[in-house]
Amino acid sequence: MDRIRIVGGARLNGTIPISGAKNAALPLMIASLLTDETLTLANLPRLADVALLKRILGNHGVDMTVSGKRIGDGDLAGETVQLTARTIVDTTAPYELVSKMRASFWVIGPLLAREHFAKVSLPGGCAIGTRPVDLFLMALEQLGAEIEIEAGYVVARAPNGLRGAHVDFPKVTVGATHVTMMAATLAKGETVITNAAREPEIVDLAECLIKMGAKITGAGTSTIRIEGVDRLHGAWHEVMPDRIEAGTYAMAVAMTGGDVLLEGARYDTLARPLEILTEVGAEVTPTNEGIRIYRNGADLKPVDVTTEPFPGFPTDLQAQLMALLCRAQGTSHIRETIFENRFMHVQELARFGAEIHLDGQNATVVGVPALKGAPVMATDLRASVSLVIAGLAAEGETMVNRVYHLDRGFERLEDKLSRCGATIERIAG
Ligand code: UD1
Repeated sequence: MDRIRIVGGARLNGTIPISGAKNAALPLMIASLLTDETLTLANLPRLADVALLKRILGNHGVDMTVSGKRIGDGDLAGETVQLTARTIVDTTAPYELVSKMRASFWVIGPLLAREHFAKVSLPGGCAIGTRPVDLFLMALEQLGAEIEIEAGYVVARAPNGLRGAHVDFPKVTVGATHVTMMAATLAKGETVITNAAREPEIVDLAECLIKMGAKITGAGTSTIRIEGVDRLHGAWHEVMPDRIEAGTYAMAVAMTGGDVLLEGARYDTLARPLEILTEVGAEVTPTNEGIRIYRNGADLKPVDVTTEPFPGFPTDLQAQLMALLCRAQGTSHIRETIFENRFMHVQELARFGAEIHLDGQNATVVGVPALKGAPVMATDLRASVSLVIAGLAAEGETMVNRVYHLDRGFERLEDKLSRCGATIERIAG
């Protein structure tokens, strides 16, 4: 298994190109199941989760071709892929594939809308809490599906097709909002989703669906209206930049000091975390090319942060912020409200000498004058990258084990960081 070796202490200076967003790419790829025409997606990140979803979609009958590079494309440019689901050859998404990545469960929406039947294994993914699917099933039932759970599979039927309905989510859920929106595009009549997720990835998916002929208004607000159409057609769409990747590198620069342009990053998708970074002591400047993060040697200040659905502080940046706050002058508080078991990085951060106290969903981070490099273990996607950030700022050598978690969500992390002056390398093994 590959490992990542870091020697901490270097400031980061330069430009980091931000890749296409994993959390937008996945639902966009799944949307290709809704039409028999070609959906072309540009700026797809080269990530393990994207590769896995290609296999899952291939299994359902999606043909994929990858376009060659264009002149001027840097070596970190995203991929352009044509996805064509001329016919759906299999409406079953098997356990072996779905158990590896939770988002693959989302194929249930398009399969049911187009084929009126889907059999999808209950999902897996990061081990961060129980992560049930009750709200997906609630929404699909409201759209007229009959749902049964059989031997670990969700079997969903809509013999006469789906029909529009009012879907009111008792809790904000990104995945179930994506799925309901996709399913409703081909339902008969109007669907209204209330308490919908407002994440930028929902807007990106809605924009792509609209290009495919869907009638959607309100994406990005908590009420989304979808007027069903008979069929969708092909389209071209560019995946939005990854706000979590950009936020992660912003925290790294805030921690090590330096001056980095996050090329392509969109300020509007990161306003809250960047506001927090400013409070902590970094300088944040939106530019025409992206977002510039700067910090000289000044002290880091402690902050109190609660994770919330967008536009609040994202749970996907909680671990990275915690790493940063380990070096603040004073005591910070972090409250995790989205996932119940998302503090697995705490025991690994402790190996660097961090002082963090946990009480249920609350973490108290007591800043220490210095972190010391250590061997650590990646436990989930976002937790692993917090260990990289800590390692970049720690004295001496850090070895991050089990980096396959990182490869699920961060494209060529070690290349992007070493080009900015970090001492970081992948050790194959
Ligand atoms: C997505 C993101 C993930 C991010 C999360 C929250 C992708 C591929 N993943 O995950 O990176 O951390 O949003 O921003 O986009 N819930 C239920 N029942 C359900 C569905 C969800 O109780 O049927 C709960 C979850 O357990 C969690 C909360 O709702 O407590 C939010 O989860 P959700 O927004 O659905 O997360 P994902 O879509 O899985």
